[in-house]
Amino acid sequence: MTINMEQQKRYGHFDDQHREYVITDPQTPWPWINYLGNEDFFSLISNTAGGYSFYKDAKFRRITRYRYNNVPMDNGGRYFYLKDGDTVWNPGWKPCKTPLDFYECRHGMGYTRITGRKNQVEASVLFFVPLKKWGEVQKVTLKNLSQEPKQLKLFSFEEWCLWNAATDMENFQRNFSTGEVEIEGSTIYHKTEYRERRNHYAFYHVNTEIQGYDTDRETFVGLYNEFADPQAVIEGRPRNSHAHGWSPVASHYIEVTLQPGEQKDFVFLLGYIENAQDEKFEAPQVINKKKAHALIASLDTTEKVDQAFAELSAYWDDLLSIYKVKTGNDKLDRMVNIWNQYQCMVTFNFSRSASFFESGVGRGMGFRDSNQDLVGFVHQIPPRARQRIIDIASTQFPDGGCYHQYQPLTKRGNNDIGGGFNDDPCWLIFGTVAYIKETGDFSILDEMVPFDNQPGTEVTLFEHLKVSMDHVLNNLGPHKLPLIGRADWNDCLNLNCFSMDPNESFQTTENKSEGSKAESLMIAGLFVVTGKDYVALCKQIGKDDEARRMQQAVDAMTEAVKKDGWDGEWYLRAYDFFGGKIGSKECDEAKIFIESQGWCTMAEIGAEEGMVAKSLDATKKYLECEHGIVLNNPAFSKFVYEYGEISSYPEGYKENAGIFCHNNPWVIIGECLAGRGNDAWSHYAKILPSYVEEKYQTLHKVEPYVNCQMVAGKDAARPGEGKNSWLTGTAAWMWYTVSEFILGIKPDYEGLRIDPCLPETAKDYTVSRKFREADYEITVHPNGHQKGVRQIVLDGQPIEGSVVPYAPGKHTVDVTM
Ligand code: BGC
Repeated sequence: MTINMEQQKRYGHFDDQHREYVITDPQTPWPWINYLGNEDFFSLISNTAGGYSFYKDAKFRRITRYRYNNVPMDNGGRYFYLKDGDTVWNPGWKPCKTPLDFYECRHGMGYTRITGRKNQVEASVLFFVPLKKWGEVQKVTLKNLSQEPKQLKLFSFEEWCLWNAATDMENFQRNFSTGEVEIEGSTIYHKTEYRERRNHYAFYHVNTEIQGYDTDRETFVGLYNEFADPQAVIEGRPRNSHAHGWSPVASHYIEVTLQPGEQKDFVFLLGYIENAQDEKFEAPQVINKKKAHALIASLDTTEKVDQAFAELSAYWDDLLSIYKVKTGNDKLDRMVNIWNQYQCMVTFNFSRSASFFESGVGRGMGFRDSNQDLVGFVHQIPPRARQRIIDIASTQFPDGGCYHQYQPLTKRGNNDIGGGFNDDPCWLIFGTVAYIKETGDFSILDEMVPFDNQPGTEVTLFEHLKVSMDHVLNNLGPHKLPLIGRADWNDCLNLNCFSMDPNESFQTTENKSEGSKAESLMIAGLFVVTGKDYVALCKQIGKDDEARRMQQAVDAMTEAVKKDGWDGEWYLRAYDFFGGKIGSKECDEAKIFIESQGWCTMAEIGAEEGMVAKSLDATKKYLECEHGIVLNNPAFSKFVYEYGEISSYPEGYKENAGIFCHNNPWVIIGECLAGRGNDAWSHYAKILPSYVEEKYQTLHKVEPYVNCQMVAGKDAARPGEGKNSWLTGTAAWMWYTVSEFILGIKPDYEGLRIDPCLPETAKDYTVSRKFREADYEITVHPNGHQKGVRQIVLDGQPIEGSVVPYAPGKHTVDVTM
């Protein structure tokens, strides 16, 4: 695809010094969003302040309302309206869309700052969720840049969601009668359903006296008006409405006088409170506001808010100091040091639940997804990763099978989706091994963890790992390869589904696997990779018999792949229900797939026989394109009943020959293990956001600072167009790939294994790595080599081998390739 001027138009740029992406035009090709919050209270915020907030679970505790797929796009959010004479405007341009004299949105680490200027008034809003607080701060700074005094009218606006985001969108016969609010001073409380089973409410406060308010949406907006022209704002006159049912909202009205040059801050706080059952009310019908008052008091001045903001910055300084690289290539350094790690934290927190492509009601935490996300996050806050492993394992079944998803609020397996995805169990090994290598904490293996959250079923976490491996071995098919079940990593390869009913889901409809011969080469490769890890772990903890047993299984699987999983030039993808080949030169379409090339090369199956090199070459030849590596080729041009959802997509999109970024790193790691640094780098750079940023902002569409799940492939109508940004396993895999395989600093049980794989052009670089109780300053001299460490000097002394043994304290490491 040739690049035209339109594609080269820029909407923003990186500011590495402040760890920000600076958006300078509000009309981005798609809303470019950020995430606020770290543990419990979260918000999504777009570059025009659209989005919403929730507590822990985007489905069950939605605090503010958001309508997906709206017209115009991204309509609804936290809005500030300024009325200056007859002009009404918003600092973030939307929803009024009054042309601004200046606009800027800075998305940073856990905060967003949006600044607008109109008629010599500047309004800057800093949005963030303070550490350990259940609330979103919105610090509004108004400045008079003119020579005249200004009389301004400021209206805030939030729309409450009736808690369950799913029923909020459908059960109107009830919803329109349940809404309840309370107003006390400058605080508007949302207490719908608090009178019955809920023990939580929300509030919206501002730290100044208000001159009015509204809490009924239609009264504030007007039944035939829009967010762009709310009646109360246009007339400059709040109604002091009290919502009873219908749609409760929260709007403060503040009259502001600013002398020339004068500046004033207003701290708005959107908060969430839970009360004990017997402490819910302070008087009949009157909610107990004690905790709300305390939360408000902790953030009611500019100084307190600035302090909380400084704490958030320090928190990120700390997190981002654990792994820091200096290569001299800004595009690489900013992804490794800032954005990739940041995206890993976000995916760890959210899994695939809430983004501008995930509605927050559809999916909870994925079993496989969360284990993979963990690998991108474990170096940041290991104790949270530890808890996550236990939560995930608790949803496993005694036979090693797993719920495919669980809800973050209840931590219970999700019955709507069920289980039967036969790759799921292996990922538990992947996540747990990464945790132990990072921390050296073997005690996690002794934790007692239930099955399916049933008290009394507890066994050690190690036992969970064992049944995970056994689940694969107990479900082998005719070629002694793993049976696929509902699907493997590729949720859309549904070989036992046979659905012709458009009203049923390919993934959750009855699993007709009885008598199935459907086997997966992806799971085979995954089993060999995680099986080797499991063997090494068993040896570490003295379980030698178990190590031997599993080594035999790994060897047998390797042989089975070589015998029945090789197609001559690449690895097959699967066998279908009837035992027919998938991903073979014998097929009409989809002759080759990426997943098995990735996993079987990572497993180094048949490396001596030349299979790995051939597979990697075939991947380049048939799957690679300008924007990355597509999932399969040729794309399916028609629906194949026997294969399920995969062929339901038009050519070049999603699992049908899209560039599913998540799996590109598998091939890159395969390249690294094979020592092909030039190829590894060229695949990596193609999907590295900072490279896409420069090339095609308009074509790519979605945020240029994070990876997206899918980029349209070469067969698509618009190759290079990105979709499903933010919540994707790509984040963790990009991190794992660059930190451990390209830059080559790999945590291991005994220390840090150093084994980079670089392009020939790589220059000397330095990685500062905090590892357990130690700080390593590692300088690598590639000397034009792609792979192979010749010598490592630790604190001035040459060492044997490639593992720098762990010892607390500060160390320098000098690596010559
Ligand atoms: C899911 C993953 C899955 C991938 C490929 C994603 O949307 O979250 O679990 O592996 O799609 O189908």
